[in-house]
Amino acid sequence: MRLAAISDIHGNSAALAAVLDNIDRQEVDLTVNLGDCFSGPLDAAGTAELLAARDFPTVRGNHDRLLYDRPVEEMGNWEAWAIDALSKTTLDWCRSLPLTLEIGDVLLCHATPKADDQNWLDRRGKTHRLVARDLPDVLERAEGVTAPMTLCGHTHTPRSLRLPDGRRIVNPGSVGCPAYLDTRMEPNFVHQTGAADARYAILDGQGADWTVALISVPYDPAEMVKLAEARGAAGWVRALETGWWA
Ligand SMILES: [Fe+2]
Repeated sequence: MRLAAISDIHGNSAALAAVLDNIDRQEVDLTVNLGDCFSGPLDAAGTAELLAARDFPTVRGNHDRLLYDRPVEEMGNWEAWAIDALSKTTLDWCRSLPLTLEIGDVLLCHATPKADDQNWLDRRGKTHRLVARDLPDVLERAEGVTAPMTLCGHTHTPRSLRLPDGRRIVNPGSVGCPAYLDTRMEPNFVHQTGAADARYAILDGQGADWTVALISVPYDPAEMVKLAEARGAAGWVRALETGWWA
């Protein structure tokens, strides 16, 4: 099976269009979406339109859930920016998304198979940056996973791991948000991929035998930058233009 995996689009329709165009030339059997589709200061409506036309198998991201699990006045910035642009049909679709999906040998989740908002492969380090978790911590969160290939997103950090028992865990990185500041943790922490490119992954194989390509797609962020500027989202502007937050 030859799969494309996309994740963490965050309303960046320009990055999504570039990734879809790239995937169209990769002769994949299937594209899967690991969630966090719309939240952010960019183009939630345009993203919804692109995704509805493709109807990819999709799991629920924490930011997809945050669009419907609380009243609008209790939403954070990222959801508040997006909610008015989303139709009832799109929000109903968000509500319908499962925590996990199994497709043949492949398990899909947004963050871990048990929660849509827990970091799996990376954790906050002492310098307020994401750092790679050690093996015991990765294994603890892989407990009960029998699939030979698991795909996760959430941290926006492209990673391809093979556990000592052969199981693989791949994070394709983020299509639309290459850097962010997480203010939910005190003290805050920053993640930055270090390139403004849109990310996705190609997984080719079956059983325990997989080739993984973490792909970095350059695109023109000008339209998205204008939208972020109009929202006063200076950090997003820098992230979209450079892939760095700080
Ligand atoms: Fe995300």
